[in-house]
Amino acid sequence: MHAHRVDGLGRLAGTRALVTGGASGIGLAVAQRFVEEGAEVIVGDLEGGDVALDVRSRESTENAVREAVERMGGLTTVVCNAGRPVLGTLDEVDLDEWNDGLATNLTGVYLTVKAAWPHLAENGGAILSTASILGVMATGGQAVYCAAKAGVVMLTKCLAIDGAPHGIRANCVCPGMVRTPMLEGILEQQPDPTAARAAATAFAPMGRLGVPRDIADAFVYLASEEASFVTGVALTVDGGLGAGKEFNL
Ligand SMILES: NC(=O)c1ccc[n+]([C@@H]2O[C@H](COP(=O)([O-])OP(=O)(O)OC[C@H]3O[C@@H](n4cnc5c(N)ncnc54)[C@H](O)[C@@H]3O)[C@@H](O)[C@H]2O)c1
Repeated sequence: MHAHRVDGLGRLAGTRALVTGGASGIGLAVAQRFVEEGAEVIVGDLEGGDVALDVRSRESTENAVREAVERMGGLTTVVCNAGRPVLGTLDEVDLDEWNDGLATNLTGVYLTVKAAWPHLAENGGAILSTASILGVMATGGQAVYCAAKAGVVMLTKCLAIDGAPHGIRANCVCPGMVRTPMLEGILEQQPDPTAARAAATAFAPMGRLGVPRDIADAFVYLASEEASFVTGVALTVDGGLGAGKEFNL
């Protein structure tokens, strides 16, 4: 994916971004939309990216950032998007799964930001993360994931405060149900995948699943100059799922 638009135009002209988990789903759409808007993008992923990256590893995040800086001549933006579901109630999840779920979904953001910070602080920059609607509202059977994503939301606010003196903005996007290989995998694991898909589609007042581009467009906005006064925000993009429920008596 290491690519950029040649005419130098677009809402993200001058942006040099590392997108973690950018080989699939939402991250892939972010990388594609960023390039459409004139950004230069390096994708880091467990497999299939421009650079091999495991966000659970300090060494790996440092290598990926170093490589991104070398290949793009700098770094203005990180999109901490890598993540995975962690299914099961707390009593079903053992300590290894708890640790790995947090490592992937929360510590991965910390490590990526930590490695990128000196570069972002050089000329100001943007930290963007993929949290989740499940970082602001709970659901059954996903305690580890919800706790990790809530951590991403709060980390974003802390980074906004700590980053402001350095010209660093930090924001995250909270997607609702988005049609990606991750969601497809969860639906397929259900006893009745067709019924599960219908239920997932009906959760949001808008009555449809999101598509990766819905989320990527929010990232484009948050990465762009249009959002130059926006920091510490958890932007919900969920078809109204988090707004509440209709109570028809
Ligand atoms: N799909 C949804 O409905 C939804 C909703 C809310 C939040 N999210 C979040 O969006 C993000 C992207 O999810 P998606 O739905 O596009 O899933 P996806 O499975 O399609 O893509 C996730 C990508 O992250 C990569 N990845 C996983 N663990 C990694 C690691 N340790 N190091 C580096 N890369 C790793 C995977 O290889 C994959 O390419 C995740 O953080 C997820 O929690 C998804």
